[in-house]
Amino acid sequence: MEVASAPRSTAAESAALRGFDTLEDETRIDSLPVEGEIPGWLTGSLIRTGPAKFEEGENQMRHWFDGFAMLHRFAFSDGGVSYANRFLGGKAYEAAKEKGEITYSEFATDPCRSLFKRAFTMFMPKLTDNCNVNLVKLGDRFVAMTETPLPVQFDPDTLEAAGVAWKVPGELTTAHPHLDRATGGAVNYAAKLGPRNKYRFFIVPKEGEAEQFASMPVDQPAYMHSFGQTERWIVLAEFPFVINPLKLATSGRPYIENYRWKPERGTRFTLIDRKTGERRGPFETDACFGFHHVNSYEDADGRVVADICTFTDAGIVEDLYLDRLRAGKPVAKPQLHRFTIDAAAGTVDRELLVEEGFDLPRINYGRCHERPYRYAWGAGTDPARESGFFDRIVAADVEQRTTKHWAEPGCFPGEPVFVAAPDAVGENEGVLLSVVLDANAGTSFLLVLDAADLSERGRASVPHHIPFGFHGQYAQV
Ligand SMILES: [Fe+2]
Repeated sequence: MEVASAPRSTAAESAALRGFDTLEDETRIDSLPVEGEIPGWLTGSLIRTGPAKFEEGENQMRHWFDGFAMLHRFAFSDGGVSYANRFLGGKAYEAAKEKGEITYSEFATDPCRSLFKRAFTMFMPKLTDNCNVNLVKLGDRFVAMTETPLPVQFDPDTLEAAGVAWKVPGELTTAHPHLDRATGGAVNYAAKLGPRNKYRFFIVPKEGEAEQFASMPVDQPAYMHSFGQTERWIVLAEFPFVINPLKLATSGRPYIENYRWKPERGTRFTLIDRKTGERRGPFETDACFGFHHVNSYEDADGRVVADICTFTDAGIVEDLYLDRLRAGKPVAKPQLHRFTIDAAAGTVDRELLVEEGFDLPRINYGRCHERPYRYAWGAGTDPARESGFFDRIVAADVEQRTTKHWAEPGCFPGEPVFVAAPDAVGENEGVLLSVVLDANAGTSFLLVLDAADLSERGRASVPHHIPFGFHGQYAQV
């Protein structure tokens, strides 16, 4: 696999390695020190999940995506901010603690060394429930998710795990479900592996179990971390990073190392009608790779617009191994691309929207999901650099193709979560909430920015570092 070459990392990037250090302590702090002014209308909580423990006994996790999940909650009230964090727990975490070693397979870490153990797990697979990727509030349920079919419900007050939330109709799924506006349910897909592989599309209602509404056959399932959704369509982008399920059980390799980069397959877009299950495509374009769809919608001519953060190839998966990150090796640059799928003409156009590195995207989801939109926010990198870890928050105007950014020396922000102001008229009226590592201080803070101009409204300081995480949600708790 080709890995993008780039200038060596900066001293600041080396200092940021703290973001990949384990955080063991679980705390509750009633009132964090605040600088500036946190808007009084923020009355909910930002709850985030992410990896926080990267070893057990003598065993080391190998990849950023492997670490044991920790929940972090910032709760807002009258301009004040409280903080709590706790390991999510679950089977994988508890078994490791009990045995003093990693016992479940993670994304890129496989504890099964012996042939005997390998044969044993083929018949009794131990899927991890280490939900360190994302979470959702569905009805009254708070649920943390990863890419195995074991979404874990948790108590938003105690942050304690409360068992598997629902059954997923397959072996692999995403931690990025979409809202079904009609019912308030969560739409997702799962890959059902076997002699005949399928992608299955399902909706989890606000209460109850998953219901399948469409499926399609697939020969070699692609690694898909997310998908797009318009009012009519599910938008699948199959990047040519694919798995042969028949080899999976006997490969002896951790999950992600079973995928192969096959650029000759190109990137394949398929549209699935959410009501009828009817399919259009696949429509092919050049090979690329990505984790995150930003937003999708149908334009006035019936074409499907899908904005996605993409990489040249799947080398980013290798870039995110912990030994490489801790050694300050280059990290490939994600770029915000617009794909326009014309099903009638059978074409896919591709356009670069902004120059900055851009990923961990958020939009004004309640207002713009499935619809034409103007603003996206993400963690980003300097446009002049070809690689590097996130060192800024970027606001992208995808209509005007312009950007604004927030950055501070030695600071490394995570996903900026948009929260609309209660009386908002404009799409970008509200704030962004981002957990930032101050590498020089060795501690993290919650940053509150004005979403329109990225000016700082305030920050709340945490007395320890928070390992780099992935996703979170703002909700009333
Ligand atoms: Fe993600």
